[in-house]
Parts: sequence; structure tokens; C-alpha cells
Amino acid sequence: MAKVNPNFKNVSERYFSAEALKRAKPFIDENPGIEIVKLGIGDTSEPLVPAVIAGLREGVEKLSKRETYRGYGDEQGDTRLRKAISEWYGKRNIGIEPEEVFVSDGAKSDCGNILSLFSGASLIAISDPVYPAYRDSALITGRNIMYMECSEKNGFIPAIPKEKVDVLILCSPNNPTGAVATHAQLKSFVDYARKNKSIIIFDAAYSEYINGPTMPKSIYEIEGAKQCAIEIQSFSKSAGFTGVRLGWSIVPKSLIAEDGTEGVLNQYWNRRQMTMFNGASNIVQEGGMAVLSPLGQKQTHQQVAYYMENARIIREALESVGFNVFGGVNAPYIWLKCPEGTSSWELFDEFLTKAHVITTPGVAFGNSGEGYMRISAFGHREDIEKAVRSIRENFGTIAK
Ligand code: MLT
Repeated sequence: MAKVNPNFKNVSERYFSAEALKRAKPFIDENPGIEIVKLGIGDTSEPLVPAVIAGLREGVEKLSKRETYRGYGDEQGDTRLRKAISEWYGKRNIGIEPEEVFVSDGAKSDCGNILSLFSGASLIAISDPVYPAYRDSALITGRNIMYMECSEKNGFIPAIPKEKVDVLILCSPNNPTGAVATHAQLKSFVDYARKNKSIIIFDAAYSEYINGPTMPKSIYEIEGAKQCAIEIQSFSKSAGFTGVRLGWSIVPKSLIAEDGTEGVLNQYWNRRQMTMFNGASNIVQEGGMAVLSPLGQKQTHQQVAYYMENARIIREALESVGFNVFGGVNAPYIWLKCPEGTSSWELFDEFLTKAHVITTPGVAFGNSGEGYMRISAFGHREDIEKAVRSIRENFGTIAK
């Protein structure tokens, strides 16, 4: 007799973005004339840049001719893309071999699947608040979780666990708080992991939103990280691939678990991918190569700057009416503090009904997210301007 996985009872009925939309639906249905600006889910809005369109076209073109048509590709990713990713790291003075690169259909799948490398008994540390995909996929697969609190007191950078944990999931620049870990902060995590023989899973999906040269864009900027960290990257937010789907994970050959030897985790991830994944779309991988070309890098960085200008506009408007805001400087998320006595769902309702803006209540990211709200800076400029006009007009002055 088949039995359902009881762990689904441990997660909320809906994923957080669907929950927010469900909550907004009655107001939207009752007010068909009101245009709502959606700054809830972190979804890119601007068209793919010309260099990437050319790359994707080339991918389609290749499939149209016998001489260049290809069926299954390598499960680990096209050799040319793996090499281009290795060179991309090389330009940042980080040595990654192409065989350590595993191309995926996006960071979200890898964030969930990568835990399969570790024993079911592993204790997984995640931050609170947290990107819900880490928490929910760990819960669905029956993992033991402990939370690292991130609060205003510690600048929303998780506190190093006092006890020994097996796997730590970190995200910098952070979703949802927009905080960025410094070199020293990441070094203390790497030191902790090496001392305790733990493994860090580092989600660097927002690395291209870091302004300036001092903040680390990769965990591998920290000495010793190749022995204790897997890095997950994405083309979604840096190149507008949220719908196109492409990312990668770095599983270093020198990565070593408490009971393993060097090379085993790299070999096991390879084995996993060959069994459960047939490689990313070949058309899309041509697009990925175009992103990493000099022209692609120039054009996609301009697009990132566009979203960061949105973030600046939102931040300034919120500050001008008296909100206490965090993030939005090195990340496309603004994390704002709810006024005293207002819960995050109450503020969500106020933003919806007064300013006609959909946001994400902080509590959707965990208990420590209560009292905060996340606003995404992805969106067309005219919609962002409309949203901030409405925030300025409808919120008056808020007591902090
Ligand atoms: C978000 O945080 O809104 C996301 O990046 C969307 C998702 O959950 O994949």
C-alpha cells in the first residue's frame, strides 16, 4: 500500500509567493479598476540582452541542421560552458577546474537536490529568516534542521552555531534581507566548517548585485573554502534567466566530508546528475555562454545596474516616509521594518490596499522575519515609479 510522504505536513500548504498572491486575490478581484504593482516575488522583468538573444538564436540554428544537430549533451554541462565558467572564476583570481563545474537548470533545483550528497542523519543549519526553498526542501526530505538567527543586532548575518552542525546553508547577498557577508564574516564560517568538518552550501545567486570590489562575490575568495564549500550560482537574476533556466554548482575535488576522502563528493554529485538529470537545454547553454562573453557581461551588468537603480528609488521613497530600511544596496531586495505594533501580514495588507503594491511579509521567511517586509526591486521603471508615488502619497509619515 502506497503511503504519502508525511513530511509534507511539516511545510505550509503553499509556497510563500503563492500564499502572498492568494492573500491579495480578494482585493484584486473586488477592485478590477486598480492596477497593482507586483514587488513580491523576485522575478526579473526586462528583456534578455542582445548578446544573449544572439547566443540563443545560434543554439536554435544549430538544431536546424544535420551537421550541427545534437541530442543528449553531457549531464554535467557542455564542455565549452564548463570551461567558460572556470575562466569566469579565473578572472576573479579563483581557480576552479571545469570538472568541478556542474551546469544545472537553475539554482533552485540544486539547492534542494544537493542535500542528497549527505547522510539523512545530518544536522542542517539554515538562517532565520531564510529563502524558503532551502527550508522547505530540507523539511520535505525529512532533514534535521537548526536555525541560525539573523537579526538587526547581527546585521542580518547569521550567528555561527555554538554546537557542531554537519551542513550550513548560507546566502550572500542575502535573500530576503539584502545583507552581504564581509570577507571576515565568511572566513569565520569557513574556519568553523574546517574545524568541525562541516560543509557549507553557499548560494551566490545575487553576487553580481554587489557594488564595489571589497565584498566577496564567491565563497572561494576565502582561503580554505575549496575544502569545505559547495557554491551554487544562477543566471536567473544576473542575466534574466528566471524563465529560461540555467545555473551551476561547484563541487570542488578537494571538498572533504568528515567520513570521506577528497574527490568523493565531486564523484557522487557527478553520479547523481548522470542518474537523475539529462543536462540543461543545449539552446539555453548557448545563451549561458553568451552571458559569459565580454559583450554579454557588459550588457547584463548594465541590466543589473537598472534593477539596482530601482532599489535606490524604492529605498529612498520608503526612507522619506519614515520607514527603517535595510538591504537594497548590494542586493535587489529591500528589507523594511514594520512600524511598532504592526505585523508583517498587516503591513502587507496596508501596502496592498493603500499603495496597491504586492510585497512579501517577512514572516513568510521564518519566525525571525516577523516585523519585517521584503520588497523586490525587479520591475519596469515606470511601475517602480508608480509604486513609490503611491507609497509617498498614502503612507504620510510613519513613526519608526
Ligand atoms: C524569490 O525569492 O522571490 C525567488 O527568488 C523566487 C523563488 O522562490 O524562486
